[in-house]
Amino acid sequence: METLTGMERTNHCGELRKSDVGSEVKLAGWVSRRRDHGGLIFVDMRDRSGIVQIVFDGSTQGLDFAKAETLRNEFVIGVRGKVRARSEDTINPKMATGEIEVLVTELRILNRAKTPPFYIQDGVDVDEMVRLRYRYLDLRRPEMQKNIMLRHRVTKIMRDYLDDNGFLEIETPMLCRSTPEGARDFLVPSRLNPGQFYALPQSPQIFKQLLMVSGFEKYFQIVRCFRDEDLRADRQPEFTQLDIETSFLNQDQILTLMEGLVKQIFERTLDVKIETPFLRMSWEEAMRRFGTDKPDMRFGMELQDISEFVKGSDFKVFNSVLEHGGQVKVIRVDDYANIPRRELDGLVEYVKIYGAKGLAWIQYTEEGVKSPFKKFYSDETFEAIKQATACKTGDLLLVVGDKASVVAQALGELRLEMARRRGLIDADKLCFLWVVDFPMFEYVEEDKRYKAMHHPFTAPREEDVDFLLTAPEKVKANAYDIVLNGVEVGGGSLRIYQRDLQEKVFEAIGLTLEEAHAKFGFLMDAFEYGTPPHGGIAFGLDRLVMLMAKRKSIRDVIAFPKTQSAVDPMSHAPSEVDDKQLRELSIRTAVKKK
Ligand code: AMO
Ligand code: AMP
Repeated sequence: METLTGMERTNHCGELRKSDVGSEVKLAGWVSRRRDHGGLIFVDMRDRSGIVQIVFDGSTQGLDFAKAETLRNEFVIGVRGKVRARSEDTINPKMATGEIEVLVTELRILNRAKTPPFYIQDGVDVDEMVRLRYRYLDLRRPEMQKNIMLRHRVTKIMRDYLDDNGFLEIETPMLCRSTPEGARDFLVPSRLNPGQFYALPQSPQIFKQLLMVSGFEKYFQIVRCFRDEDLRADRQPEFTQLDIETSFLNQDQILTLMEGLVKQIFERTLDVKIETPFLRMSWEEAMRRFGTDKPDMRFGMELQDISEFVKGSDFKVFNSVLEHGGQVKVIRVDDYANIPRRELDGLVEYVKIYGAKGLAWIQYTEEGVKSPFKKFYSDETFEAIKQATACKTGDLLLVVGDKASVVAQALGELRLEMARRRGLIDADKLCFLWVVDFPMFEYVEEDKRYKAMHHPFTAPREEDVDFLLTAPEKVKANAYDIVLNGVEVGGGSLRIYQRDLQEKVFEAIGLTLEEAHAKFGFLMDAFEYGTPPHGGIAFGLDRLVMLMAKRKSIRDVIAFPKTQSAVDPMSHAPSEVDDKQLRELSIRTAVKKK
């Protein structure tokens, strides 16, 4: 094998242009593709910056052409050569370097490569397990390199913006105390304290609040968080937050500061104009109009209530829903009254996934109204519904009746699904919005208790404090989420900074005073030593970059992610460990070794 000595590069492959014609260059990189034309070999040579075509010509003086014939994909090479213009008919307008090529005068093979399990190129159609098993090769693909580079630039802009605005980056512990609330913890046994466990942080929430008590005033951290929850395309067991906390700012000031950050991130990486301030919408309005607290605002198809029109009929389904305090709502799908029956049947199954017991419809066709509940209502009623929902002949209404939460979820999901099927989503649009005025608590049916909707350190609205223990469902929180194209990319709140209020909130979520003190005593103690009013937010970095890179999964913007079942198919984590290791940790597992 040959060495690099003397072949240290002068240029990167992807940067060569017409203006470089005539110059002598040295390049280093990988063989991306090789085409053999007898006395001529063309190679697409790749490095991090891109691809350039290099040419081996059998008649070139001093060139070891036989060596060039041994080149295979993914060999690592160094070449010396001369940049020359391509002839008019061989110019490739799709390549940044498409106007030139490099005529090679010297070749070094720095390393050979086995045939990779998939092509190192964009848009490969391979199973994700294979991609993750050979992640180092997957990451060599240009589109993946672009994602990782974008991520770098985003975090760089975050640091610069926050530094410019007086924020300090401060690290917080990874080995923490396990606390209730939120998701399940990842636990780490303590060897020195047998039988005791650390938890990996679900977020630095308490520590960043303590930094406010310490007087740092403006903190941020780009930090790994760990949550042992069921995984989805936008969830990983370890993910990264841009975590922020400030003292002495009101909610509006925090949101404005964050809009400035988002604006810079997008404008400086994607070169798009972002209008601020972002739309602000109450949680209640979002739920009513879109059935979700993270509405995708790139299209309409809002939920509309037709309860008024359908009540008091002989139609048992709607009657019983309305008598039990439920509602009947619709979404309008424009120009789709002639939806195939088979698709309707499929949609019935679709809404059942989200808890709806059924789905009905009204088709306003040229031939008149078609609906499973047609016989229960007059023509006038169908006309009134048509007017109220701004339907025209040719439109379709999809109808769900149930209790409010089920209607919201089923129709909210159906709205997204129909928008995808009907091609209503403009992939280039960026719709930001703040969802504000969240309820402080949500009732957890199976535990028969309230739980904090955001987290229990969130400050309730001042005017609602009196209801904390008497009517928790009425209490609104000073909490906010930032939503981009239907994805929650961040969330935060103003915090409680008084001990008695914090104790009351713990009580409202069913923690006894003893439990609260045992788990959070250190925080409440701190509150007694001059705690400033404070608040903050955390952005999901992975989700943000995923949306910026127009990817469907956050795994595509994380160098080494885990699968849906939380394993790494490359390093085979998690794994069994030696009995000796377990003994040292005073741990015995209930699972038999494989
Ligand atoms: P929250 O739990 O809302 O708030 O998290 C903030 C943001 O982190 C992202 N996120 C995730 N991304 C990938 N995988 C996951 N499993 C995952 N879970 C959350 C989301 C979310 O909006 N301490 C508070 C913030 C605060 O109040 O300041 C917190 O962690 O984009
Ligand atoms: P059923 O009495 O369950 O056969 O329902 C009669 C019709 O009512 C069905 O064909 C559906 O179109 C409709 N339907 C049933 N449940 C619901 C529901 N929860 N929301 C809307 N429509 C429903």
